[in-house]
Amino acid sequence: MSPVRVVGPQSVRGRIRVPGDKSISHRALLLAGAAQGKCVVRGLATGDDVARTRRLVESLGVTVREQPDALVVTGVGWDGLREPADIIDCGNSGTTVRIGLGYLAGRPGYAVLTGDASIARRPMLRVVEPLRVMGAAIDGRDAGALTPLSIRGGNLRGGRHELAVASAQVKSALLFAGLQASGVTEIASPARSRDHTERMFMGLGLPVSEDDAVVRVEAADVPAFEIDVPGDASSAAFWIVAALVTPGSEVVVEGVSLNPTRVHFVEVLRRMGAAIEIDVQGESCGEPFGTITASTSELTGTLIAGDEIPLVLDEIPALAVAGAFAEGPTEVRDADELVVKESDRIGAIHQELSQMGVGVEARRDGLLIQGGRPLAARFKSHGDHRIAMAAATAALGCEGESQIQGWAAVATSYPGFSADLEALTGYAMEEFA
Ligand code: S3P
Repeated sequence: MSPVRVVGPQSVRGRIRVPGDKSISHRALLLAGAAQGKCVVRGLATGDDVARTRRLVESLGVTVREQPDALVVTGVGWDGLREPADIIDCGNSGTTVRIGLGYLAGRPGYAVLTGDASIARRPMLRVVEPLRVMGAAIDGRDAGALTPLSIRGGNLRGGRHELAVASAQVKSALLFAGLQASGVTEIASPARSRDHTERMFMGLGLPVSEDDAVVRVEAADVPAFEIDVPGDASSAAFWIVAALVTPGSEVVVEGVSLNPTRVHFVEVLRRMGAAIEIDVQGESCGEPFGTITASTSELTGTLIAGDEIPLVLDEIPALAVAGAFAEGPTEVRDADELVVKESDRIGAIHQELSQMGVGVEARRDGLLIQGGRPLAARFKSHGDHRIAMAAATAALGCEGESQIQGWAAVATSYPGFSADLEALTGYAMEEFA
């Protein structure tokens, strides 16, 4: 595919709604499939990742119908989920594989999950091992460490699990398995991670409880429900950073999730001197939502480390762009998980910021970024949606023409990104040979 072109600088001005939250969308589809009856999901994420989870649920015999403003999912109850007829292709979606395994772990049928080249190198033992302890039979490449993975579930036992990584995907896989297990399933995490699953379970009255970083769940049927999925804060992060680093900008992101485990990047940006306002307007299925307003700001570098890392991990590409335009160094530590995301994000950010003439050092667990005046560049997406969008964000702030190779990766989470960029800047990104 040809690269796309972005000519900067461009002011980012206006009001925008970003696609529905990806994490909440995956969970809503899985819960709806197992629910007892008809569920209505409004505002589902539009990207390919969530489409993969939809297909997983459909392959288990669940009917999903599109209506003008909603998706109607006819849940069949846990026992109604049938064995899939074919391999389930999860594409680029780690969430579909990992939480999908937890979902399937309680079902007596046989299923095989696979994905694209990026999925093939992502670590799966973190979820495979505890699910085996609960009673699921899982095998796969490299003794179950890598996809393709096969699973035969059934007769799960509860118990306590101490997670080595603060991963919402692993925690959620065990929570979905725990809904189908005998006894109490208890999950202790080394630090706080995103908590959508807990919030949705609580919102539905399922037997889940939480204190400190320990979550407990017991077996339960899922009642039918309706949900309005708020906008994805991780997608919003690109427009917010774009507004900060471009002249004469002000952007208002409406109807976006304000879940504290997702908007911590706003705290980091405020620490850097960013002018950002948050206005909580309501709550849906236990999730606060509202507007985030950001305008052009003089930024200074910061340290991002420790327990805040699991709360901003998906926003590091956007925060790295803020760091590149800030005065002084921005340091990211304790973020070795970045290496096993959709791409090796430490390597990818290092390479792409270097293209812009930014002084950047890649470390085992993070990055040291010397802020300054980045230059227009020829970027690569590394097949990673967030690296592609970070490149576009940076390009908006640079003088002159940038190019982005591998732009198609944005379809994973934000297929309408270039249309929204045009709505906010008046600039139409074009492909060229
Ligand atoms: C997600 C959790 C995070 C995040 C991913 C989505 C989720 O992964 O990076 O994009 O929906 O639970 P980890 O929990 O593995 O860090």
